[in-house]
Amino acid sequence: MSSIPKTVAGTRTPFLERIDGGGAEVVIDERLIAITDPQSSAAEQYRMLLHRLRHFRALRGIRGGAVMAVTSSVRGEGTSLTAANLALTAARTGDSRVALVDCDLRRGAQGTLFGMGVRPGLSELLSGKCEIGEALGRFHEGQLAVIPAGKTPGEPAALLAGERFSAALDTLRSLFDEIILDVPPALATADASIVAHRSDGVVLVARAESTPRDQVAAAVRALGGAAVWGVVLNGVEPSRVPAPLPVVKGQLTAGR
Ligand SMILES: Nc1ncnc2c1ncn2[C@@H]1O[C@H](COP(=O)(O)OP(=O)(O)OP(=O)(O)O)[C@@H](O)[C@H]1O
Ligand SMILES: [Mg+2]
Repeated sequence: MSSIPKTVAGTRTPFLERIDGGGAEVVIDERLIAITDPQSSAAEQYRMLLHRLRHFRALRGIRGGAVMAVTSSVRGEGTSLTAANLALTAARTGDSRVALVDCDLRRGAQGTLFGMGVRPGLSELLSGKCEIGEALGRFHEGQLAVIPAGKTPGEPAALLAGERFSAALDTLRSLFDEIILDVPPALATADASIVAHRSDGVVLVARAESTPRDQVAAAVRALGGAAVWGVVLNGVEPSRVPAPLPVVKGQLTAGR
C-alpha cells in the first residue's frame, strides 16, 4: 500500500448514506481512500490486493462465503485501514456482498471509521445481548455490511473462541460472498490465532521502513499454522509506487 497523504489523514467528510439509517447522511473517515479518492494510487493498490486475494481464493476452490482475516504483528501497522479499504474496494466491484467485522474487541476502529456512532457490535453479539441484524450497519447501497467491535469485554479471547463466534461466522458465510475480519495483532494477543484458525486465509500487514523481517516471521509462527495468504507492505513512500494509468471516461477513439 502506498502512504495515504498526511493532509487527509484524520479529517472527516460526509460521504456515504447509511441504508438502514432512514437515509440519514453519515460521516466516514477520509482515510477510507477506496471510496474518498478511488482514482488515487493507494486505491489502485487496494484493488490489486483484492484481485490477488480473489485469485488466490479461486485457486484454492473456495467459492462464496470466504472469510479473510487481516492482522499484523504488533499494533499500529495499519490493519484496520487495510481491512476497511479492502472491504470497500470489494463492495465497489458491485459483484460481491461484503461483510467487514471488527474482531478487535480491545481497540475497535471500524465503528469510528464508518461514523457508526454508539451501537451494539460483535462484543454484544458474542455475549448474547443482541442479534446479528442489530449489529450490522449497511453501507454502499447495501453491498457492504459492517459489524463494529462494540463495548470492550472482560475476556475478548474467550468470546472469540466461543460457539457464538463460530455460529456468527456461519451465518455471515451464508449471507455474504466475502467476509473481512479486522483482527488484533498476532504477537500481542491470543485473539489473532483464534480468529485466524476460523478463517480461510490470513493477510498479514507489515509497516514499510518499520516492521523488522523477523517480527513478521514471529507473527506467522504465533498464528500457529493458520493459512497465511500473504503480507501487505503498508505505508510505502508514494514515490516508490507506480502511478495508476488514468481512467479514460467514454469511448476511446483512434489517435489522429
Ligand atoms: N498506508 C498508510 N498511510 C499513512 N498512514 C497510515 C497508513 N496505514 C495506516 N496509517 C496510519 O497508521 C495508524 C494506524 O493505522 P490503523 O489504525 O489502521 O492500524 P492498526 O494496525 O489497526 O492499529 P491498532 O493496532 O492500534 O488497531 C493510523 O494513524 C493510520 O492513519
Ligand atoms: Mg486496528
